[in-house]
Amino acid sequence: MSEGDSCDITAKNSCCCSNPNPEKETTDLKAHWDKAYTNNPHEKLGWFETDLSPTFKLLNISKIAKNARIINIGAGSTVLIDELLKLNYTQLIATDISAVALDILEKRVGNEHVSFITDDLTNPTVLKDMDAVDMWIDRAVLHFFTEEKDQQTYFDLLRSKVSKGGFVLLAEFALDGAKKCSGLDVCRYDTAMLSKKLGKDFELQDSFEYTYTMPSGDLRPYIYTLFQKI
Ligand SMILES: C[S@@+](CC[C@H](N)C(=O)[O-])C[C@H]1O[C@@H](n2cnc3c(N)ncnc32)[C@H](O)[C@@H]1O
Repeated sequence: MSEGDSCDITAKNSCCCSNPNPEKETTDLKAHWDKAYTNNPHEKLGWFETDLSPTFKLLNISKIAKNARIINIGAGSTVLIDELLKLNYTQLIATDISAVALDILEKRVGNEHVSFITDDLTNPTVLKDMDAVDMWIDRAVLHFFTEEKDQQTYFDLLRSKVSKGGFVLLAEFALDGAKKCSGLDVCRYDTAMLSKKLGKDFELQDSFEYTYTMPSGDLRPYIYTLFQKI
C-alpha cells in the first residue's frame, strides 16, 4: 500500500478517513459508513474538522440569506451544522447514507432548524422529491463516486435541485490528494473538472487549494470551489 493509500485513522500517513475494514471490498456502502460512525468517536474520525474557515470563506462570498435553504450533502456528524445554527441560518438540511451519522448529528443539534434525510446519493429516492435548495454544500463526499454512472446521478440531482441563482460549494480531494479514503477508491478533482461536471449553467465564483490537517496530524490537499447557477 503506497503513501496516501492507507486508511487507519490512528496511523500516521493514513488517508483522510476512518477505515473500519481496509481489506474488504465494500459492497454495502450503508453498512460501511454506519460502521465507521458506530466504531469511532466523532472527533477521531479522519475527516473531523474544527477549522471551517475555507467553507465560511466561500459562504461569505455567496452572501446567502439566513433563511436560505442550505443542504449539506453527506453531512455525517459534521460540526458545520452547529456553526451554521450559531450564525442563525434557519433552514438547514443534512443528508447522508448513514442513519447512524444523522442520528448523532440530530441528537447534538436538534431538529428545530434542521431536517434530516437518510438517502443514497447514487440512488436517490427521498432527495428526488425534495424542494429546491439555495445552497448545496459537499465536503469530501463526491470524491467517493468513482463510477461514471454514480457521478452522473449525483450531478443530475444537483442540477435539478439547486435553484436559479443558488450556489454549489464543492470541497473534494485535489489532484495531488490521497488515492483512497475509508478503504474506498476516490476520484480526485481540480476546478476545471468540477466545472465541466456541473455544466454551462454553473459559473465559477471562487476556488482555492486548501490543506486539511487530519486528527492524526497528516495533511490532505483539497480543492474548494464555489459555483453559482445562472
Ligand atoms: C468523509 S465523510 C465527510 C462527512 C462530512 N461531509 C464532513 O465533512 O465531515 C463522507 C460522508 O459521505 C457519506 N456518504 C458516502 N457515500 C454516500 C452516498 N452514496 N450517499 C450519501 N452519503 C454518502 C458518508 O456516510 C460520510 O458521512
